[in-house]
Amino acid sequence: MAKLFFLLSGESETLPISEVKAILEAEGFIYSNLSTFDQTLRLEADPNCVGSVQVRAAFTRLCALELFTSEATEDQAVQATSTTDFAAVLKPGESFSVRINRIKQYAEQDINTMRLEGKLGKAILQRAPQAKVNLKSPDKTFIGIVTNNQLVFGLKLTEIQTKTFSERRPRKKPFFHPSAMPSKLARCMINLAHAKPESLLLDPFCGTGTSLIEGTYIGCRAVGVDAQRRMILGCQKNLSHFNISAEGLIWADARHLPIFKVDCVVTDPPYGRSSSTLKSTTKQLVQEVLASTHELLGIGQRICIALPIMGDGKGKTNQMSADVAGLVAQLGFKNVESHKVFVHRTLTREIMVYEKS
Ligand SMILES: C[S@@+](CC[C@H](N)C(=O)[O-])C[C@H]1O[C@@H](n2cnc3c(N)ncnc32)[C@H](O)[C@@H]1O
Repeated sequence: MAKLFFLLSGESETLPISEVKAILEAEGFIYSNLSTFDQTLRLEADPNCVGSVQVRAAFTRLCALELFTSEATEDQAVQATSTTDFAAVLKPGESFSVRINRIKQYAEQDINTMRLEGKLGKAILQRAPQAKVNLKSPDKTFIGIVTNNQLVFGLKLTEIQTKTFSERRPRKKPFFHPSAMPSKLARCMINLAHAKPESLLLDPFCGTGTSLIEGTYIGCRAVGVDAQRRMILGCQKNLSHFNISAEGLIWADARHLPIFKVDCVVTDPPYGRSSSTLKSTTKQLVQEVLASTHELLGIGQRICIALPIMGDGKGKTNQMSADVAGLVAQLGFKNVESHKVFVHRTLTREIMVYEKS
């Protein structure tokens, strides 16, 4: 076990934290929570978990091995650096650089990031005199995050490129539909559902296939269902574009699924605006699909579903998770967590995670 920290995306306050933890749980890594700061999560865990986070996470930017935390002032940071054993992480002759990232405007009065990089570089050289500085292509990079008036400092283990998600955004796919979900959010939902490599993932409202594509990229076998033939054909086109063959792509009604067993469910039901509910209501569809998918899951397995919070923009909202809470409990689902994702003035998505108990 080692102290690790994760620099998180600022796109959501809660999803990135839950996503990292869900990845570790899905991949069987034991961890304990050290603390959470704005866009920074500190955990004690097996450093090998970083590989899984790198492959799977949508909302993590960087993973590092923590060397110290200090108050966010330059003096405290230099002091902490001079009492840290850098020779243990820098071999003689190895080169390094120091990068300080400030979250929002934390400690602006106390830390000038460029000046601190220089000061910490000097302090590291005093602790590991046989190392050398190389700003362009160092062997090792030390990262400091200034957040919540703390400096979290350590050795970078991996940096995560999220460019590939934008290459798979809805408009980049050959079959576009306005109801399509952002690929990053779909990936995060798959992680929250504890999807494991080789496991069978079902999306009963698959639409353009976002979740099927994101699930396949982390090694799941994906099955998609949609009640509209043109969506199934479009979805097939998108899968082929990424050289993906789904385990199954079925033109069927999600309320009567022709499937017996899956390992997790990730889905985004139609809200009746950009995506049709086909003469039903969203609430009816959600209720029936919760019941039909409950049958397919084993104890401890999860469904991650995006439910609408419809608003009129004047404070009146209708939260569907509250409407279905009774049914969820009656079916025997445990409500694990929920996250709000703003879409536009009259719609917020609530990402619900339910676990069969
Ligand atoms: C919000 S869209 C899903 C979008 C999808 N997540 C994506 O990224 O493309 C909902 C989908 O549910 C489908 N649908 C509506 N009623 C259905 C039903 N009873 N059974 C299965 N699919 C249904 C619609 O055709 C639509 O494609």
